[in-house]
Amino acid sequence: MYNDERAEPQMSGRVAFLVMGILLLMTPDLLANAVVNGGARAGELTVISQQFQKNPKRTTAQKPRIDYSRFSHHTHVGQQKLACDSCHKFPSKDWKAVRKADVAFPDVTEFPGHGSCLECHRQQFFARERPAPAICSNCHVKASPRDTTRFLFPSLGDVSDSVKQKREGVTEFAINFPHDKHVDVVGRNVPLQPGGRTGFLSVSLRQKPTETEPPEPKSCPVCHQTLQPQGKSDEEYVTKPPKNIGDAFWLKKGTFKTIPNSHAVCFTCHNTDAGIAPAPSECGACHKLALAGGSKLKTDFDPKLAQSIGITDKTILKTWSRRISSGTFRHEGGEHPNISCLSCHNVPTMNTVDMKTLAVPVRSCGGAEGCHVTATTDDGGIMNYEIDQKKKNAAFVCTKCHLTFGWEPPSENHIEAVSMPAPRAKPRS
Ligand code: HEC
Ligand code: HEC
Ligand code: HEC
Ligand code: HEC
Ligand code: HEC
Ligand code: HEC
Ligand code: HEC
Ligand code: HEC
Repeated sequence: MYNDERAEPQMSGRVAFLVMGILLLMTPDLLANAVVNGGARAGELTVISQQFQKNPKRTTAQKPRIDYSRFSHHTHVGQQKLACDSCHKFPSKDWKAVRKADVAFPDVTEFPGHGSCLECHRQQFFARERPAPAICSNCHVKASPRDTTRFLFPSLGDVSDSVKQKREGVTEFAINFPHDKHVDVVGRNVPLQPGGRTGFLSVSLRQKPTETEPPEPKSCPVCHQTLQPQGKSDEEYVTKPPKNIGDAFWLKKGTFKTIPNSHAVCFTCHNTDAGIAPAPSECGACHKLALAGGSKLKTDFDPKLAQSIGITDKTILKTWSRRISSGTFRHEGGEHPNISCLSCHNVPTMNTVDMKTLAVPVRSCGGAEGCHVTATTDDGGIMNYEIDQKKKNAAFVCTKCHLTFGWEPPSENHIEAVSMPAPRAKPRS
């Protein structure tokens, strides 16, 4: 049937049979009815007729073509008002097979099934497109009769599968993790894996400082570890730098902290047994649809530079491209590991769905000892030095902390920091 010109559905087996069955049951009347009641065509017709009124020469053919290879939640959740669970089923039936027995937990591990689309997209599922209808590629790597492999569902960031490939793409969602709400979840012990691995995860985001212990939040590393640390090794750089690198920038190991890439940690508490809201099936409580074409923040990242350094690691590129304060800051660098996370990250005011609240205040570069912001330039503050240079010569580029911001005039808060180099008060705990 593959070589037949008229072979539209390139499916095999039971699924194709079922789909064909449904299609055959549809009389033209029923089909038309379903189409109009589905809302989709009705909405489209309104748009078309509006266009028609503005420009009588316009016809349906001039309507911009819809790209059915690029699923958008803005269309389905925003406009069509569909609930997450009309498509995403929790847990997926194969959750036990996807992760090894000792780390498996009930999770959403698979794409929505055909059933959640067909009501509205019968036409696209049976489109005469080669090698397969465009719509298939949202979930399938290929959809030929011989090969119906699907991508790895993206929630499985912690799973490496030798067969299923990951699909590239930018997420339409921001993660809602209210750090402040979790701060008070102190000393709660929960099983590390529901019904699986034993062991306990003691959660206390904020440790009360004691005589012997610094006010260091012990639980940050549960979710944020140093990415590719240098540790005690001699290899300082992520890739081999040119011989004459000198003081020029080249990406070093231990620059970034990780952020969670799966449900593993969240679902230790947010599972059906523990009953802590939100339940794992309430996708929308943690995944917030980012504003369509919403405010794009300026980032201190240079993709060309990353390429010339030879960075291909997806996690590094993703993290680096989100830097909005300092593209060069290295967590493992200098004294940084000895400073509390809370001196630089204003955790109580961070809102993970609003990127600009995640900026690291420039004053934290001064630290308790002055560090990069000092009383005078002679005291060695790099901020003082760079601002002096910029004043003397507007073409001077600040490269200590920045990759792209350094070309711009220094922001007001930089000048203020230098004129009042007192260390920023530590957040009260
Ligand atoms: C009409 C069906 C449908 C509905 C409703 C739906 N999804 Fe999806 N979702 C999909 C499909 C299909 C994919 C895979 C294609 C893709 O990655 O865009 C997907 C992928 C995702 C992804 C991974 C891709 C990304 O952009 O990060 C997340 C996260 C997600 N859905 C969350 C949600 C949440 C949260 C809701 C409810 C607010 C929801 N979905 C509602 C069909 C749906
Ligand atoms: C309630 C009806 C409805 C359901 C269910 C539905 N869609 Fe859609 N979808 C629409 C409408 C309406 C559009 C707007 C374009 C159009 O009219 O075809 C659309 C557009 C699309 C597009 C074009 C890009 C975009 O998102 O705007 C893709 C791809 C798509 N749908 C895939 C899917 C898949 C895959 C499923 C099942 C997981 C699904 N849809 C379920 C109504 C639906
Ligand atoms: C919204 C995601 C999605 C889209 C779009 C989609 N599929 Fe699937 N497909 C699935 C899932 C999930 C399964 C597994 C269903 C199950 O095992 O219950 C599947 C199963 C299949 C199977 C059965 C073989 C197997 O691997 O289990 C065939 C054949 C198939 N799809 C073909 C297609 C074709 C052809 C298209 C496009 C016309 C398409 N699919 C579009 C998600 C999708
Ligand atoms: C239970 C897991 C968890 C714990 C514990 C946790 N975080 Fe987070 N953190 C997250 C998640 C999830 C995000 C949002 C990531 C995203 O947007 O994808 C985040 C985001 C952040 C960000 C912003 C990252 C960016 O993109 O700029 C910072 C900074 C941060 N956390 C610092 C901390 C600090 C400091 C602590 C300890 C007080 C901490 N976190 C504890 C899960 C956690
Ligand atoms: C000396 C200041 C400082 C300290 C101490 C510090 N950070 Fe950061 N952190 C930063 C800066 C600067 C960034 C980059 C922010 C940006 O540009 O958006 C950052 C970024 C992050 C990010 C986002 C991922 C990345 O690397 O870009 C996370 C997560 C994070 N820090 C967690 C932590 C945790 C957890 C600790 C404590 C173990 C910590 N940080 C200690 C300054 C600091
Ligand atoms: C150690 C247990 C634990 C872990 C791990 C955990 N949470 Fe929570 N979470 C809680 C508790 C307890 C609450 C209720 C807090 C409250 O209402 O004050 C909560 C509440 C929430 C809320 C609702 C807050 C509100 O506004 O009502 C969200 C969203 C949330 N968690 C997301 C996450 C995400 C995302 C992760 C993983 C990155 C995560 N949680 C990991 C225990 C946990
Ligand atoms: C308790 C909070 C929470 C709930 C509930 C939740 N998620 Fe997630 N989800 C996360 C966190 C945290 C991540 C990891 C951050 C990331 O990958 O961006 C994640 C990652 C994902 C990803 C990968 C996103 C990407 O672009 O790489 C998908 C897909 C996903 N979740 C789908 C779902 C679906 C579908 C549901 C509902 C059945 C759901 N999630 C429920 C917190 C949650
Ligand atoms: C010691 C590190 C450090 C040095 C040196 C430094 N900056 Fe910054 N810069 C930061 C941090 C941290 C932020 C984020 C602060 C914020 O947005 O509140 C920032 C933010 C910026 C921004 C973005 C502000 C915005 O609109 O979001 C610009 C532009 C900038 N710096 C320019 C400069 C210039 C020009 C110089 C040299 C005179 C310089 N910086 C030197 C740390 C530094």
